[in-house]
Amino acid sequence: MFETLFTPNSSVETNVNIRLRKGVIIGAGQVGMACAYSMMIQNCFDELILQDINTDRLQGEVMDLIHGVPFVEPVEIKAGTVADVGQNADLVIITAGASQKPGESRLDLVVRNVAIFKKLIPDVVKYCPNATLLIVSNPVDIMTYVTLKLSGFPAARVIGSGTVLDSARFRTLLAQKMGIDPHSVHAYIIGEHGDSEVPVWSKVNIAGMPLYDREGSSELDNAALQEIFERVKNAGYEILKLKGYTSYAIGLATTEIVQAILRGQDRILTVSSLVNDFYGIHDVCLSLPSVVNEKGVIKMVNLTLNDREQQQLIHSAQILRNIFDTLAL
Ligand code: 2OP
Repeated sequence: MFETLFTPNSSVETNVNIRLRKGVIIGAGQVGMACAYSMMIQNCFDELILQDINTDRLQGEVMDLIHGVPFVEPVEIKAGTVADVGQNADLVIITAGASQKPGESRLDLVVRNVAIFKKLIPDVVKYCPNATLLIVSNPVDIMTYVTLKLSGFPAARVIGSGTVLDSARFRTLLAQKMGIDPHSVHAYIIGEHGDSEVPVWSKVNIAGMPLYDREGSSELDNAALQEIFERVKNAGYEILKLKGYTSYAIGLATTEIVQAILRGQDRILTVSSLVNDFYGIHDVCLSLPSVVNEKGVIKMVNLTLNDREQQQLIHSAQILRNIFDTLAL
């Protein structure tokens, strides 16, 4: 019956190819699905493939997303793998792996998730050789480094979500304290996405006005500011305790990075990537404000840190380096 519904246009040329934006999300758990949903409603991809070892649940997740397509910009969503329908994706987002249990730190997940990545990465390399890899799995700095070593991809194209979420949390809590919108607060968390992360107080500014003056004093009470940072650093644990996992904000943070890549935005984001020659830090993946576009991480901001921030960043890098050195890759 439908054959008679359409009359083919005989002048259509067969050699026309437009560049469809294609992504694969590996890991359809709470974080992976928050990423998928956020990327769907923000029109990131024309084709989005979800990959997971639990194929039954995966089918259900994909069906549930597909039924929402009439409410958003067109996108083709499929269940599959990088080896079948996910071949030659522009972006491969990896959220797969064991997640923290209450009381566990992100670093406690290393052994389990390295083993999972050793199984995952070879197929990603084989079937998506030109993709940018965006790692979300924790401990994200370690897993970004592991992916860099296992894939052999250029460092620019191996990016971790890093402290993009922490910087957002920092801006949100500072904004709440000051009664303004978080979009108007500029503040960075750098280093490990984890217990040794570093607040760059010396660069916090609102409408260009620094939070701390040249003498290092602030109108806001120091104890209150320190309490804000503690809440930022422990937010993941806090939410984990209350709802069992975190998902929405990391999904939105990951989408911000995806948009910067797919739209070539030259956005400055505190993503995790390979750092060399920065305050003596070498061969470590951690977060610094970096310019992100279609080529990946193209450059890093040469932040001038004060002495305390430098010490904290070097300490954070050393904690990660010590773990990298234990990895049998
Ligand atoms: C977060 O900070 C758990 O790393 C995740 O929300």
